[in-house]
Amino acid sequence: MTSRRLILSRSVALAGAASCGLCLPGLARAQSGKLRVGFMLPYTGTYAQLGVAIENGVRMAIDEQGGRLGGREIEYFKVDDESEPAKGIENANKLVQRDKVDVLIGTVHSGVQMGIQKVARDSGVLSLIPNAGVHAATRALCAPNVFRTSFTNAQPTLALGPAMVARGHKKAVWITWKYAAGDEAYEGFKEGYTKAGGTIVKELGLPFPNVEFQALLTEIAALKPDAVACFFAGGGAAKFMRDYAAAGLKGKIPLYGSGFLTEGVIEAAGPAAEGVITTMHYSDSLDTPRNRQFRLDYAKTFKMQPDVYAVQGYDTGLLLVLGANAVKGDLSGSKPALYKALESAVIDSPRGRWTMSRAHNPVQDIYLRVVEKGENKVLGVAAKALADSGTGCRLG
Ligand code: PHB
Repeated sequence: MTSRRLILSRSVALAGAASCGLCLPGLARAQSGKLRVGFMLPYTGTYAQLGVAIENGVRMAIDEQGGRLGGREIEYFKVDDESEPAKGIENANKLVQRDKVDVLIGTVHSGVQMGIQKVARDSGVLSLIPNAGVHAATRALCAPNVFRTSFTNAQPTLALGPAMVARGHKKAVWITWKYAAGDEAYEGFKEGYTKAGGTIVKELGLPFPNVEFQALLTEIAALKPDAVACFFAGGGAAKFMRDYAAAGLKGKIPLYGSGFLTEGVIEAAGPAAEGVITTMHYSDSLDTPRNRQFRLDYAKTFKMQPDVYAVQGYDTGLLLVLGANAVKGDLSGSKPALYKALESAVIDSPRGRWTMSRAHNPVQDIYLRVVEKGENKVLGVAAKALADSGTGCRLG
């Protein structure tokens, strides 16, 4: 027992030493008074660019407010979660138990999020979800200390089906990666599309993050649906659009998707992305002063164009600033006041204003977009102030 304890406390001390010199972690924390912010994001793999955009967005929002949270200086900690669900709990605990973060910001992948959700519920640490749309996080497994600034997986696709039917596409094939994000995006698509009178002739899938699309594209060509709808994101989305065009389907069978399909990858997809129609809670071309300013500032700071992930990161930063200010930086000691501030937040986002649902998920507009000359152009609002059902959540 004694030796095990010794080993444990030595490893914690070593981990602490890596981030704060030779001081003991508990002591260092009290002395420096820094607020500890942990990023758990994918920095490698098909979602790597999503993780980077999210971190950029968070930092930009905080830096715009003087680089402090509730008056406190900040120390950042980072863990690459590799979009690997099997390591989700272990990675979240690196931040929560080893680094003792005051807030955990993460992640992108729904399966990994389930690990974070467990650690957040067990530890009570403030958890801000800047992307992953897994339903359970703000439905049956919702928690007072977990807030999402992005979407639920079904939110963007609920509005997709009616837009397809309105364009005369009554028979569709659905294709996705088979994991929570794809399966739940399908739930939203199926509900919206069938209610609007559409028929799904086939549901196709492949394991995440597989990009061997050829056999499935051959099957789509044989099925001859009116249109195809899908969920893909990141590097895999760019390849899917390129392969779709290379298989000769572009121009013959219109391609639709949950808007992630064309986020951050239009350049990589090239001409294959032109004309793709999607639904999403953001668009590059939203013509508002807020969005124009955000895009200019982001491009200047990071030498790259922002996308929905950057916006979600930025909004996570805005929410955190708001919460920290409400409790003067004491995130751990004033929890009721902190939660009240976060629950009543109205976020003035580049995507448009949004509020928190009772289950802690954004109530937001969903736009219909088309890729035109390398940009997501807004065609209209596909769903106004759309809230997720929050089924099974007992908060508020
Ligand atoms: C998810 O796994 O929840 C996910 C990943 C990437 C996206 C959207 C959702 O673009």
